[in-house]
Amino acid sequence: MTNAPVESRLFEPARLGALRLPNRLVMAPMTRNRATAAGVPQPIMATYYAQRASAGLIIAEASTPNAVGQTYPNITAIYNEEHVAGWRRVTDAVRAEGGRMFLQLQHGGRVGHPDNSGHTPVAPSPVPLPDTIFTPGGHQAAVVPREMTADEIRSTVADFAAAARRAVEAGFDGVEVHAANGYLLHQFLAKGTNHRTDAYGGPVAGRIRFVVEVVRAVVDAVGPERVGVRIAPGLTVNGIEEGDTESIYPALVAALADAGPAYLHVVFADPDQPLFQDIRKAWPGTLIANPVLGWGGPLPADGGRREGERLLAAGADLISLGRSFLANPDLVERLRTGAPLNPVREKGLMYTGGESGYTDYPALADARRGAGAPEPVGA
Ligand SMILES: Cc1cc2nc3c(=O)[nH]c(=O)nc-3n(C[C@H](O)[C@H](O)[C@H](O)COP(=O)(O)O)c2cc1C
Repeated sequence: MTNAPVESRLFEPARLGALRLPNRLVMAPMTRNRATAAGVPQPIMATYYAQRASAGLIIAEASTPNAVGQTYPNITAIYNEEHVAGWRRVTDAVRAEGGRMFLQLQHGGRVGHPDNSGHTPVAPSPVPLPDTIFTPGGHQAAVVPREMTADEIRSTVADFAAAARRAVEAGFDGVEVHAANGYLLHQFLAKGTNHRTDAYGGPVAGRIRFVVEVVRAVVDAVGPERVGVRIAPGLTVNGIEEGDTESIYPALVAALADAGPAYLHVVFADPDQPLFQDIRKAWPGTLIANPVLGWGGPLPADGGRREGERLLAAGADLISLGRSFLANPDLVERLRTGAPLNPVREKGLMYTGGESGYTDYPALADARRGAGAPEPVGA
């Protein structure tokens, strides 16, 4: 079933902070809604992540650092001892399989609903999400978020730092601060969602301030080698309108470089974009690139290997892949040997509970053993 090993820089070892990664393939963070209603990781999550431990690095799914930051139902959290204990089971299982793992810290900001979090969402300004949002009662219109006060900004920065400490206590190698995809930190960066007239709004220097303060606090809490930051320049997901993308990111990257986290993770990285090249030149640390793989359609047959190699050639250090890891627990081996990939099953299974579409994607070894693993279902 397997072909000759594929020669590629993707399979070379790399350093990330104090970690030695056996390859340059990173499992991108993916929310899978398999936690309890209180945000506690369930045992099935240990199985799922341990199956994927051959990734150079796993970045575990978005986890909220406080109650009001919760986006959707059954997402993971990291703000109390129960969350730490739940995550500990996951990190133990991944480490037992030889893996390394960061946790993504995400505050949803206006991407939230009182039926999900028990709180009115907070945001830089009272500008509602222009979409509906999923709740236990189905999709509902978004509510107008409450503008964060200066005190709330300070306490949210402290919540991120406390969450980072808890993540390390739970056995993670580090944390990724989520400043991408239209959640709270991205809302501060973007003109469309940040209408503040205080020090956290207005010109670029004001709009990047909150993100930089969060990253500095997290670096102070757990050390620079344990911290990464995810950004998505120009992405309009979750109704984001940045307005001045070309000004925001050079300023943000320079300020983050000064704060010194180990890596920057760029979503939908395109090596042909001048902004990507500028970010590479300005960023002194590790750069993780998440390629554009035909979002909304099927994945390319090579699972992103060629695009990943193109990004490595353009200066990225590590390549993160989402859906290819979701559907292929042994993605690294499949890409290394040129073996065929499991297609991603229908979308509904991504954000639902249970094993289906989660822990039951077969590995090559299952097929070789004839272990009766389920056949992959068409995309
Ligand atoms: C099911 C699912 C959940 C996701 N959840 C997150 C998340 O929690 N945090 C995040 O930054 N990105 C999230 N993403 C985006 C992925 O990290 C990645 O950027 C995206 O899937 C594109 O990579 P791909 O084409 O390799 O899948 C999610 C994507 C999918 C498919």
